[in-house]
Amino acid sequence: MGNQEIVQLGKANYMSNYSQFPIAIKSGKGIVLTDEDGKEYLDFVAGIAVNALGYGNEDEKKALLEVIESGVLHTSNLYYNRYAVTAAQMLNKLAGSSEVFFCNSGAEANEAALKMARKYGSANGKSVIVSFNHSFHGRTYGAVTVTGQEKYHKGFSPMLPDVVYAEFNDIESVKALVSDKTAAIIVEPLQGEGGIIPATKEFLAGLRALADSFDALLVFDEVQCGLGRTGKPFCFQHYGIQPDILTLAKAIGGGLPMGACVAFGKAKGIFSPGDHAATFGGNVASSALAEVVLSKLPELSDHVATAGAYLGKKLDAIVSKHPSLCIEARGMGFMRGIELKIPPRTVIEKCMEKGLLICSAGYTVLRFIPPLVATESDIDKAVAIVDESLSELE
Ligand SMILES: Cc1ncc(COP(=O)(O)O)c(C=O)c1O
Repeated sequence: MGNQEIVQLGKANYMSNYSQFPIAIKSGKGIVLTDEDGKEYLDFVAGIAVNALGYGNEDEKKALLEVIESGVLHTSNLYYNRYAVTAAQMLNKLAGSSEVFFCNSGAEANEAALKMARKYGSANGKSVIVSFNHSFHGRTYGAVTVTGQEKYHKGFSPMLPDVVYAEFNDIESVKALVSDKTAAIIVEPLQGEGGIIPATKEFLAGLRALADSFDALLVFDEVQCGLGRTGKPFCFQHYGIQPDILTLAKAIGGGLPMGACVAFGKAKGIFSPGDHAATFGGNVASSALAEVVLSKLPELSDHVATAGAYLGKKLDAIVSKHPSLCIEARGMGFMRGIELKIPPRTVIEKCMEKGLLICSAGYTVLRFIPPLVATESDIDKAVAIVDESLSELE
């Protein structure tokens, strides 16, 4: 089947909840994807910040083949499996955390965090969750409620009760909302879907202090910005501020569905047997790939720190060159964006024609989230295509 046949099949059989581009991906090697008609694209989307090691990684292939050879892709959580326990141990070592709950997605990781927060607070009558405008935490009811963007709530009322929204990077707005009823504060240290907006150090330090003084849990959602994407294994490590709960997903499963809710210090031991579960959580195949991704995380993070700074300089140059279309470039490591004066989709479509996959964040930001193995030469090629596309739109 070619692109068009697949697109038509999708349109005829899918619900209409996505607005998809009219191509179907067939294969990949390194950071290049090939569609069903044989056209190649340099990939600066990475399955939306998922495919850290790019495509066709030999270690991932070996790990997955070993699992397939064993005959057991899944065991349930009635039993242990060697891959999931090793992945949990590696995560705790890398993050400095105490315990891990595995699930299947970012939304699920945040659901676990919200339930932990409510359980933690339940003994003292605390139930309120403080979240932020422009945040994004996923599409399940709890996760979408703490997502501080009206467009994701429209038509789905009533949302989860006892959730309030403060302004990101404005600690005074948080002070106005926290009280002895606050169970948790949930925040992305680097907002992704809201438009690639990094938290300031003072802001996160202020949240840490407020959470401590009100005995609330501080939850960092690093589903998108965690796992090497910002040039350190975890984004919070740039700030030197430790959360009580860290949520992860996307890159952790090497392309298979996986999420993790990670507890530090006072968040340890909140869940008792029966409190929470996921049939596929810590699935054998996903965990085997997580082991591969986590074993490479320190080295990948170092690479992203250097290559990400290079990408940042290149994007600043693009903004200076096209002031009629660009407002500013911002972000960290390999999670960057250019705020545009035109809808990002016009640029994205031009880039696709020219063989570059790139995506947007919010309504105005062109987002750069390549696989973590992208090189300076890949960056040069991608930025040249964006440059050319912007020139044609001027
Ligand atoms: C910060 C953040 N949290 C949560 C999610 C939801 O993750 P998932 O789509 O795996 O449920 C996303 C997805 O983009 C995200 O960026």
